[in-house]
Amino acid sequence: MQPKAKFRKDYRQPDFTVSEIYLDFQLDPEQTLVTSTLTVERQNAEATQLRLDGHSFEFQGVKFNGQPFSRYQQDAESLTLDLADLAADRFQLEIQTLLRPSQNTSLQGLYQSGEGICTQCEAEGFRQITYMLDRPDVLAKYRTKLTACKTKYPYLLSNGNRIAQGELADGRHWVEWDDPFFKPSYLFAVVAGDFDLLKDTFTTMSGRVVDLEIYVDRGNLARAGWAMESLKRAMKWDEQRFGLEYDLDIYMIVAVDFFNMGAMENKGLNIFNAKFVLANPQTATDEDYMGVESVIAHEYFHNWTGNRITCRDWFQLSLKEGLTVFRDQEFTSDLWSRAAKRIEDVRFLRAFQFAEDAGPMAHPIRPDKVIEMNNFYTVTVYEKGAEVIRMIHTLLGEAKFQKGMQLYIAENDGKAATCEDFVSAMERASGVDLTQFRRWYSQSGTPELTVSDEYDEKRQAYRLTISQLTRPTADQVEKVNLHIPLKVALYGQDGKKIKLQYEIASVSDVLDITNEHQTFEFHNVSQRPVPALLCDFSAPVRLDYNYTTEQLITLLSYAENEFIRWDAAQTLFTNELKTNLNRYQQGEEMLFSDGLLSALTIVLDNAHQDPELAALTLMLPKETEFAESFSIIDPQGIAVVRHFMQTAIAEALKDRLIVAYNQHKLPEYRVVADDMAKRAFRNVCLSYLAFTDLGNNLVYKHYHQADNMTDTLAALNAATKAQLACRDSLLADFDQKWQHDGLVMDKWFALQATRPDQNVLEVVKHLLEHPSFNFKNPNRVRALVGAFAAQNPRAFHAIDGSGYRFLVDILIQLNSSNPQVASRLIEPLIKLSRYDNQRQTLMHRGLERLKGLDNLARDLFEKIEKALQ
Ligand code: ARG
Ligand code: ZN
Repeated sequence: MQPKAKFRKDYRQPDFTVSEIYLDFQLDPEQTLVTSTLTVERQNAEATQLRLDGHSFEFQGVKFNGQPFSRYQQDAESLTLDLADLAADRFQLEIQTLLRPSQNTSLQGLYQSGEGICTQCEAEGFRQITYMLDRPDVLAKYRTKLTACKTKYPYLLSNGNRIAQGELADGRHWVEWDDPFFKPSYLFAVVAGDFDLLKDTFTTMSGRVVDLEIYVDRGNLARAGWAMESLKRAMKWDEQRFGLEYDLDIYMIVAVDFFNMGAMENKGLNIFNAKFVLANPQTATDEDYMGVESVIAHEYFHNWTGNRITCRDWFQLSLKEGLTVFRDQEFTSDLWSRAAKRIEDVRFLRAFQFAEDAGPMAHPIRPDKVIEMNNFYTVTVYEKGAEVIRMIHTLLGEAKFQKGMQLYIAENDGKAATCEDFVSAMERASGVDLTQFRRWYSQSGTPELTVSDEYDEKRQAYRLTISQLTRPTADQVEKVNLHIPLKVALYGQDGKKIKLQYEIASVSDVLDITNEHQTFEFHNVSQRPVPALLCDFSAPVRLDYNYTTEQLITLLSYAENEFIRWDAAQTLFTNELKTNLNRYQQGEEMLFSDGLLSALTIVLDNAHQDPELAALTLMLPKETEFAESFSIIDPQGIAVVRHFMQTAIAEALKDRLIVAYNQHKLPEYRVVADDMAKRAFRNVCLSYLAFTDLGNNLVYKHYHQADNMTDTLAALNAATKAQLACRDSLLADFDQKWQHDGLVMDKWFALQATRPDQNVLEVVKHLLEHPSFNFKNPNRVRALVGAFAAQNPRAFHAIDGSGYRFLVDILIQLNSSNPQVASRLIEPLIKLSRYDNQRQTLMHRGLERLKGLDNLARDLFEKIEKALQ
């Protein structure tokens, strides 16, 4: 049977709702008995059939108001009760199911992770535990009793407050939890296990003391401190910036080793991929520290934007995710460098979201059609969703935006809401008309803004003409004009900013682009200016303006807006790559332009002013980032030219780089902004120096002198990318030291998978047998296989098809064990249309091989169907 799609337009209110649930779990990894007692209420007087979702358990039977009940029909995904002559509009159902957590490799529903047992219910995992109206607009109160062996599972956790506990004669114990807040089933959680526990408290703005508890694998207590500090910072920030206070008396976070994604915001009981909890200087890089802080914050912020106000249906996912990503981005920006955060987010968006828009899975931030919901936890829903919220923020300003938030919360607290509810609240609270803006929710694709300009010296007038175009995407042919906030600035040749004026009145630096073509005229402009377009990346669009190298260097050197400075360097790099790729493809000699070199020299010489921005600016875009500026990608050519550029810069700037490298040495490791900036900058210098004759000694020393993972990994990375003589011994040393720690080894696996070596695929295949590798652990699979497919484009797209064959072999296995992970990993294989015919044919062949599987999961089915269309 072919999986069926669901459509947003088909939403109907449920005929029945569940107002209360009592869940009893007799927990055991081999056999868990679940008894669920539902209080069901009929909402539609006409309704006689109650269809409950459920699968992947052994159904033991159902009682209706305490009496065995047999008038039901069962299929592979549901249980439908025939209530035709039962008058009651409120009744109880008692449902029993038997689960096998140790056999559940999908990591959805109830499953075993290491020695513990835990749940993942978003989006539709609750139905793998018991039959339920498993949809986010059914809000119920949950009480949960957990019983398990006390020695194996000393901690038994669920949502809300612990209300009772006791011991049984047979060595088992039990704990009962009560969650006073109504919630949808996807926020339900259970954890059983033995942990180290880090405890703290937070006093809220109204003076309530909240217990904070972080549970980690035994032996990892010393790695939980940063997560706790991050949590407290997030709680404080949400009070200060959004006026939002935590609502329960306890907030728990559990770190587990086996987890399909980053983390999950279950009410009062977040469950996290250990990767986003554990951090100490020896095991975590600066980047990891930032990752932990932002994911901890993200899940905490969901308590309001997600839990108190949830989604009416899954098509509305961006209502909570886009908004919560926006909130976590703001949190990081307020605490650290706003410019650096913006640059990192834009890099990510351009590399992945733009690619999604250009591929077979293109969808609006509020999708219209879904086969497998897990496939829509995407960069589009999350990151582009956050960009849409950010544009609303730009159009309204902070004060009106916060008024909008308050209205949104006042109107929707305790409810399941829609994206429209949010936009409408923003609109009414601010008085800003968002009619046209709403189209961002329904239109997919990346808009292109084409800009041309004219300077009239006599009239001292400067004109910008802007056109917008959104090309057809795989899901949607017809496109309409969007409301795009375009933030601009003008600079003189001397780098001085020119005031934006119309006649004598000054005008806003945010231009409202609403039509296909629009012209803006600025007055009192005394010389031909250099336009800075899309400051702070004020909209998720591609921008096309024919900058000269001189203009870009002016922006790089003088623009006030850090994003613009960085972006000018990106454009210079991209132009340089394009020119040389052309030469390379024509068999000509590659040349590095003096203009770009002198620009980079200036950046290097001024690095001490802002080492973090210097690091970001000097770093060459990754191969995958470069790829996004081509409609047809030449993975081999890009890798060769990028390598040429790296070597050319390193050789030309060697003396300056070594001076900068030596000047930025730090006496000790501290996680503070200034030090992190210096470390990042110094390690960028190292990454270039690795490509010079100084490389081997320098990198070897850097590795052995490192007292923290950031520097260790920087050395290892430099040795690997530059294929230095010391590489093998350093890799072996790291392996020896960290074998026992899978999370740390993930860095090593990813590095191995992205080696530039010809034989990298052989290395990767070999590593599948490495003692630290575990095919059941998604982190390991993503680190090794995922990095190979997504971050080593030259090897993955090898013209003999070996990369594709390897991935397909792996996907065939994952299709049975963990389709959700398979569906993430397949991404690089479905973007066929971006490659030449020969590669397309090979990719096609791989997809056909998968399509032929007789047990093809919906997750893969949906993507393969679209890719082959
Ligand atoms: N809500 C979680 C978060 O953003 C992610 C859940 C992902 N679920 C999934 N089925 N992929 O924090
Ligand atoms: Zn989220």
